[in-house]
Amino acid sequence: SRRTLSTRAPIVDIHTHVYLPRYAEELRARSSAPRIYRRTDADGQLEERLLILDGEPGVGRPVGPQYWERDQKLLFMKRHDIDISFVSSANPWLDFLPPERAHTLAQELNNDLEEYCSTSPQANGFPGLRSIYGFGLLPLVSGISVSSVLDVIKQVNTLPHISGIIIGTRGVGNEPVWEAIQQANLVVFIHPHYGVDSKSFGNKTNGHVLPLALGFPFETTIAITRLILAGVLDRYPNLRLLLAHSGGALPQLSSRLASCIAHDPIVAKRLKHDARYYLGKLYFDAVAYGAEELRFVSDVIGRAEAYSFTGGEYNADVGSTRMLFGTDHPFFPPLEASQKWQSVEDNLKAIWSVRTWEDSARANVLGLNALRLFDLEC
Ligand code: URA
Ligand code: ZN
Repeated sequence: SRRTLSTRAPIVDIHTHVYLPRYAEELRARSSAPRIYRRTDADGQLEERLLILDGEPGVGRPVGPQYWERDQKLLFMKRHDIDISFVSSANPWLDFLPPERAHTLAQELNNDLEEYCSTSPQANGFPGLRSIYGFGLLPLVSGISVSSVLDVIKQVNTLPHISGIIIGTRGVGNEPVWEAIQQANLVVFIHPHYGVDSKSFGNKTNGHVLPLALGFPFETTIAITRLILAGVLDRYPNLRLLLAHSGGALPQLSSRLASCIAHDPIVAKRLKHDARYYLGKLYFDAVAYGAEELRFVSDVIGRAEAYSFTGGEYNADVGSTRMLFGTDHPFFPPLEASQKWQSVEDNLKAIWSVRTWEDSARANVLGLNALRLFDLEC
C-alpha cells in the first residue's frame, strides 16, 4: 500500500496555514478588522470569530484551535496521509501594522515558527526529515525601510526549518528586496488577501464565494503579471516564486497577455521573452480542485520554453515538475463534521485523475517536487 515504508512517495502539503498564538493575540487585541472577536452563539456558548476580509459579509468565520494548535495540524495531516507540511502564516500577515510593530512581530513570529517546526515529530517513514517546515514572514508594510526588510531576510536565513517566505501582493516591488531574496535562495509563496474591488460583486449576499473563488485568484494573477511586466523575472532569473491557487487566471490568460504586450508601444520591447516563457520559471500549487484545470496548467508550463526568444521546444513532461500539492488548511473545513475534508479529497482526486500524467508525474506533484524545491533529501 501507499503506507509501505520507504518505497512509497511522500505526500507533502505546501499550502497550509497557521495563526501562531502570538499572532492570534494580536488580532484579539484589535477592535477593527482584521480581528478575532468573541460573541455568544445561538446556544449561549462563547465562541471566537475571524473577521479579516475587506468588507467581510456578516459576522465573519468561525475560528478555533485548528488555526493555532500544532496538534490539530498534525491530526489533520494524519487523517489525510500527509507526511510533511510547509506551514505558512495566513493572511493578512503583518500588512495592517505600523512599520516598527511589523518589524518586531515578523522576527518574533519567525522565531515562533522555527520552534513550531524544529520541535515537530520526525516524518514517519522518512528518516532525517521533520513533519513540519515553514515559510517565514517579512515586514512588507508601507513606510518600512528597505534595511528593516533586509534585516528580517537575514534572520530567516539563520532559521534552519524555514526555507521560504510567504508574501501578499502589496509592497513587493522593491529591487533590493528581490535581490536579497534571490541571493538567500528563499522560496517565495505569493498569496492573495485583498481580492478585487468588491463593488464589482454587486449587492446580493453570496457569502464568501465571490471574493474567495474569484477575487483571490485574480489578485494573484494581477500581482504576478505586474512582476513579469516590471522585468523582475528578467533581472532575477533564479527567483523561486510559488503561486497560490495554481496561479489564478494567469495560465488561461497568458497568450492574451503576450498579445497585449506585443501590441503595446510602451511595453512591446521591454521584456527579454514572450510573456508565456515566464510561466515556465514559476511554481504553481495544485490547489485547483479539478483534474482538467491541473492538466491545463501543466500544459501551459510545458509550452513555456517554446516561447523563449532564444529558441526552445514544447516539453510535455516539465509541467508536473513545477506543480505542488496543497490543502489551504484550516480554511475550507467541511460544513458538516467529517474525518476527511472534501476540499482535500477533491485536490487529491484531481491529481490522481489528470489523464496526461504518469505515476511518476503524480508522485512529483504529491510530494517529490516539494522536497526538491526545498532541498530536502529523501
Ligand atoms: N480564506 C482566507 O482568508 N485565506 C485563505 O488562504 C483561504 C481562504
Ligand atoms: Zn491559502
